[in-house]
Amino acid sequence: MMMTPEQTQLIIKVESIVQARLEHQGAGHGFDHVQRVLKSARLIQSSVGGDLFVVELASLLHDVGDAKFHEGVERSAEFSNQILEQLQIEPDCIAHVAKIVDNISFRKRDHAENLTLEGKIVQDADRLDALGAIGIVRTIEFGAAFDQPFYLPGVTDQKTGVDHFHDKLFKLRGLMNTTAGKNLAENREHFMRTFLQQYLTECDATE
Ligand code: ADP
Ligand code: NI
Repeated sequence: MMMTPEQTQLIIKVESIVQARLEHQGAGHGFDHVQRVLKSARLIQSSVGGDLFVVELASLLHDVGDAKFHEGVERSAEFSNQILEQLQIEPDCIAHVAKIVDNISFRKRDHAENLTLEGKIVQDADRLDALGAIGIVRTIEFGAAFDQPFYLPGVTDQKTGVDHFHDKLFKLRGLMNTTAGKNLAENREHFMRTFLQQYLTECDATE
């Protein structure tokens, strides 16, 4: 479904509102992440269809009230509703976007409500940003921010970035909803595995 010129204008407005709100959030989980999710979501939508306006809105708003930046309380759906109401977007559309924003996180994967096609696209796009070269950088950035080492040879009682690859990131490919998403995930996971192999080889070589 193509967007109307009015919808395109609304997307530009929402984009600048989200950009302003996320300004203070560090790289890896700020507006740069949102822009990459939007780009991937557009790509997936071009292959599998779905309402592009809803896909773009949910991509832009999916982390607007991330719990990490709001005392542990996830407020994205609440902020999404506020922003879209101010722009006088149709109530059905606002509710659809809020439902997506509320249900795509990895944390919720076991008790999330069923996702619509648009929700599946945005979830895949968000997960893709945890993979590949970007996924590696984000994992390292997370470690730097939360004082978590990337690798501790021989240590088993402390979580590392390398553990995160295994605990979460290498599981994402199998959780992708769309074929387009799965193909992109496969490619990105392959690159991460190559990186990890090289990294571990280099580490062992110097021990
Ligand atoms: P999003 O909400 O965009 O899906 P998260 O907030 O879960 O992403 O995580 C942001 C980034 O930090 C991701 O790239 C993720 O892989 C990384 N990350 C999350 N938890 C950890 C962890 N325990 N160790 C290392 N990296 C992490
Ligand atoms: Ni995200």
